[in-house]
Amino acid sequence: MGDNEIILETERLIFRQNRIEDLDDFCDMEADPEVRRFVGGKPRSREEAEKRFLPSLKPATNGLHMWATVLKPGNKYIGRCGIYPHFDAESNSIPSEASFGVYIAKAYWGMGLATEAGGVFVKYGFEHLNLDRIVTMIQLGNDASVKVVEKIGFELIMTEKGEWRDFYHYAIDRHRFYGFLNTVK
Ligand SMILES: CC(C)(COP(=O)(O)OP(=O)(O)OC[C@H]1O[C@@H](n2cnc3c(N)ncnc32)[C@H](O)[C@@H]1OP(=O)(O)O)[C@@H](O)C(=O)NCCC(=O)NCCS
Repeated sequence: MGDNEIILETERLIFRQNRIEDLDDFCDMEADPEVRRFVGGKPRSREEAEKRFLPSLKPATNGLHMWATVLKPGNKYIGRCGIYPHFDAESNSIPSEASFGVYIAKAYWGMGLATEAGGVFVKYGFEHLNLDRIVTMIQLGNDASVKVVEKIGFELIMTEKGEWRDFYHYAIDRHRFYGFLNTVK
């Protein structure tokens, strides 16, 4: 693996460009009803998952992307994580903001990996990309995800009532991030 493909790393994880060799693991993750429970509600078929995956092969140039997330021991693809463009109601990307997302295959849940991944992307967003704010939406009931974002400093902004599903809107801004860093030092 060329170093230029790695965007970030932590003690246990590498974040790199998506590759075609990741496709089967990605499709397996997306076919798991438990992974999809609060993100779409139903498993993705192989065809749907491929359609979702293929555009992610295009290298991201601005750092805003969902990156392949690889567990260092065994060099194993375990999901995707990153910050990606945040769009307003008119579908315009909001400059200096991003959305956070993390998806981990079930076999690797409960090991603190999403928290480890999320923490480094929030830091990357503020310190490297110079963002002002990072947001994320979580379907009500996804308590593991709530735990993860609260552990890395996000705060609940509002709860949105949808027709079928309700969502928490979480955010962390630059001011809160640096304050949070001081409290965890
Ligand atoms: C949400 C998700 C990313 C968490 O990944 P993970 O690597 O297991 O997360 P972590 O181990 O870092 O932390 C999970 C925390 O939630 C807790 N948790 C797990 N399941 C829980 C549940 N059902 N209710 C409450 N807390 C729960 C864990 O105990 C842990 O908290 P702790 O560190 O205080 O013990 C993972 O479950 C996932 O990929 N889910 C499917 C996709 C998804 O929902 N993504 C989020 C989209 S918003």
